[in-house]
Amino acid sequence: MTLLSLRWLRLALPCVLVAGFASAEPQTLIFSHVVSENTPKGKMALMFKSMIERRMGDQFQVEIYPNTELMDDDEAVDAIAEGRIHFAAPSLSKFQNYTTQLMVYDLPFLFADMDAVERFQGSTAGQALLTHMSEDGILGLSYLHNGLKQLTASRDFSLPEDLAGLRFRIIASDVLQKQFELLNAEPVPMAFSQVYQALADNDIQGQENTWSNIYSQAFYEHQSFMMQSNHGVLDYMVITNTDFWNSLTADQQQEFRFAMEMSVKYGNAVALAKNQNDRAAIASMSGVTLHEPTMEQLAQWQNAMKPLWQEYEPQIG
Ligand code: LMR
Repeated sequence: MTLLSLRWLRLALPCVLVAGFASAEPQTLIFSHVVSENTPKGKMALMFKSMIERRMGDQFQVEIYPNTELMDDDEAVDAIAEGRIHFAAPSLSKFQNYTTQLMVYDLPFLFADMDAVERFQGSTAGQALLTHMSEDGILGLSYLHNGLKQLTASRDFSLPEDLAGLRFRIIASDVLQKQFELLNAEPVPMAFSQVYQALADNDIQGQENTWSNIYSQAFYEHQSFMMQSNHGVLDYMVITNTDFWNSLTADQQQEFRFAMEMSVKYGNAVALAKNQNDRAAIASMSGVTLHEPTMEQLAQWQNAMKPLWQEYEPQIG
C-alpha cells in the first residue's frame, strides 16, 4: 500500500464509520400469531406495526407472522419467555405452564359480558396479572379482546346432556378439559391451526370459539349446529420479552406503549363489530341452525359447568 493510499484511508475511515453508523439497519421485531389478518388480533397487529414504523421506522421494523406461519401459540409463549420473538398475543388460556392465576379467565359463566371482563382487567388484580410472569421473561403490555365463546357441533343440541360422547376441541387447559368432562363430552386439546381439518375429517365433532374465529376459519362448513351460549371468554394478553423491554430507552418504551394503547383500542373496536357482524353472517347461512337458549336452558348449562368454580378456587384465589 502506498503512502498516499494509507493517508486516504486514515482520513476516510472516520467518515465511513460515521456513515455506517448513521445508516445502521433498523432492528427487526417479530410478532407471531395464529389467526387471520381479518380478525381483531390480526388488525391490531397490523396497526401496531404501522404505528411503530411510522414513528420509529429508522430504529425498528415489525415483521408479522399471522395464521401460525411461524409457530403455534404454545410455542410463541415459550419463544417470548426465551427472547426468540418480540411480540405475541396468545389467548389467556395458553399460559398454564407459567401460571395458574390466569385460569380464572377459563372459568365458565364467570363473566356476564365483555364489560365485566374489562372491569376485571382494569382492576388492581387484573393489572397485576400483566406483570406477574415477568421473572419468567414474559411481560404483558396490554389485554386485547376477542369476545365470548360459543358452542358449535356437528349434531343438534340444546341441553348439556346433548353433547355427551362428542369429541370437542379445546385449547390445552385443565379448566377447559374439566368443563367438557362435566358434560360427558371428550375434550381434545389441539392447536388452532388444526381445528378446521379435524372437523372436516370428523376427528372432532365440536368446538368452542368466538364468532369471529368461527367465521374467519370457516368452521361453519362442518358445524351445522351452534348455540349462542356466551359461556366463556376468549381474550388475549399482548406480551413481550422482559429483557428486550428492559433494553429499550424510556422514550422508546413510551412510544411502544402509545402504539400498543392505540392499536388495542382499535382491535377492541374491531372485536365488537366483528362479533356482531360475523354472528349475523353465520345466522343467515342456510346450512346453519343457531339456537338462542331460553333462560331455563341457560340455567341448565350454568348448573352443569359451575362446579368448576369451587374446584379451582384454591388454585386461582
Ligand atoms: C384458539 O386457539 O382457539 C384461539 O386462541 C385462537 C386465537 O388466537 O384467537
